[in-house]
Amino acid sequence: MVKCPSKQVSHSFDSKSSQFPPVEEDKSTAPFVSALKAYAERNAAGFTFPGHNRGMAAPPLLEQLIGKGPFHHDLAELDNFFSPKGAILDAQKKAAELFGATETWFLVGGTTCGVEASIMSTCSPGDTLILTRNSHTSAISGMVLSGALPKYMIPEYNTSWGIADWIKLDQVVKAIDELHEEGKEPAAVLITSPTYHGICSDLEKIIDLCHKQQIPVIIDEAHGAHFKFDCRLPSTALEQGADLVIQSTHKVLCSFSQSSMLHLSGSMVDRERISRCLQTLQSTSPSYLLLASLDATRAQLSKNPYTIFDTAILLAHQLADEVQTSIPNASVLESADFEGMPKKDPLHVTIDTWKLGVPGYDAYKILREEYDIIPELRSQKSLTFAVSLGTCREHVQRVVHGIKDMAAMHGLDNPDQAMINHYECLPFGEISIKLSPREAFFANKRRINVDESLGETCGELICTFPPGIPVLIPGEVMTQNPLSYLLNARDGGAVISGAADSHLHSIVVCDI
Ligand SMILES: Cc1ncc(COP(=O)(O)O)c(C=O)c1O
Repeated sequence: MVKCPSKQVSHSFDSKSSQFPPVEEDKSTAPFVSALKAYAERNAAGFTFPGHNRGMAAPPLLEQLIGKGPFHHDLAELDNFFSPKGAILDAQKKAAELFGATETWFLVGGTTCGVEASIMSTCSPGDTLILTRNSHTSAISGMVLSGALPKYMIPEYNTSWGIADWIKLDQVVKAIDELHEEGKEPAAVLITSPTYHGICSDLEKIIDLCHKQQIPVIIDEAHGAHFKFDCRLPSTALEQGADLVIQSTHKVLCSFSQSSMLHLSGSMVDRERISRCLQTLQSTSPSYLLLASLDATRAQLSKNPYTIFDTAILLAHQLADEVQTSIPNASVLESADFEGMPKKDPLHVTIDTWKLGVPGYDAYKILREEYDIIPELRSQKSLTFAVSLGTCREHVQRVVHGIKDMAAMHGLDNPDQAMINHYECLPFGEISIKLSPREAFFANKRRINVDESLGETCGELICTFPPGIPVLIPGEVMTQNPLSYLLNARDGGAVISGAADSHLHSIVVCDI
């Protein structure tokens, strides 16, 4: 069976077809969900935790909010999360089969803990990890935990959008060559693909290159868990040969927040070491509701793997088309905005609000407060709308109408003149590293006035949230660009995360 059998001819941009496991007779089979249901139905005399005892002592306020059902299923003892032999193992095996992995682990600490575990299972203290500088915060935590040293690839920036470009094969080659010149071998390569904006790198070529040199490749596919399920979507990292892939099943797919999957392919990375790392990072009391939501999401996809995203893709195209055709000056991010980019996720629709005369942070606030529309991501120049299985036509129409109205009511007549220079700086440029992430994490710190911070060694990881991509990383020398970027974002209304002083009047630096 192929990824998109009925549509192969009509979609020229995915030559790859992929196999799904045979469709089950009872397509809704979900081993963990079934076991949980049966277990919850027993009239057991429970002397176990949690103390609400299947809802008998549920906190009334929460019960009023969510009902008794979640409490009734908030159980333990069905299987061992770290050495699964029963329902958890069966559910994970089914997920591995569907997503095309050798082995899959369910995660209850989000993709965050999967990225950390992937770095810890490939890098030992002193090893070098090649990674993109616009990696998620969890990559820095992974280096603190493992003691790995970063070798960054700096993405180019599309300045008219203020959005990072895809990672090119040349950049990986350059990073490996530079390490070789220093007499070092990389322990692993970590790439985020797709990015929060749906930008995909050409993973197949990069992975091929790395594998020829026995370098394992980790792909942070937090935003691409749905790619397998329609041939109009980009190829998955597993299809392109990645060794470790971490997906936020709770993003475009439908599991509960905090639940993710870590997929292993092949034998380049030691599965026992991954297990040990996950045991180090995750709770010994995983929420069965989260695990059940992963199993149920997998079953939802298995039931209808070829057409499940038809409506979502249609709605995403409608959103993009209607914004562009009905709103003067509106533009939507497209593959063509990034020269040579293999593919972009159509379900992440990024709209340029800057050209409409409304900075992205202001547009977010206006849409939220005046139109009850909540975009997924805001930045200085744009808003990103995540279209998913739960999106409906009426909401798409509300966005089109809301943006049109907002532009008419709030847009500056001459946006470029009013806003130019204000947001020109990019988050990263040249990087000078004084301390490794781990050294910086444990170094003594002091807090200084932000005006005195240039040239100091940064002591805290600071980002705008979302997207949670660190602009300042502990151990790096403080320079003007990232600082100005953060100050502008703060002034524009971004949420600043990770700084002891979220107003950024002061900043924590390493005392060296
Ligand atoms: C690229 C990327 N990687 C990792 C994460 C962390 O994922 P999670 O929220 O599942 O822990 C995020 C979160 O937004 C992300 O955008």
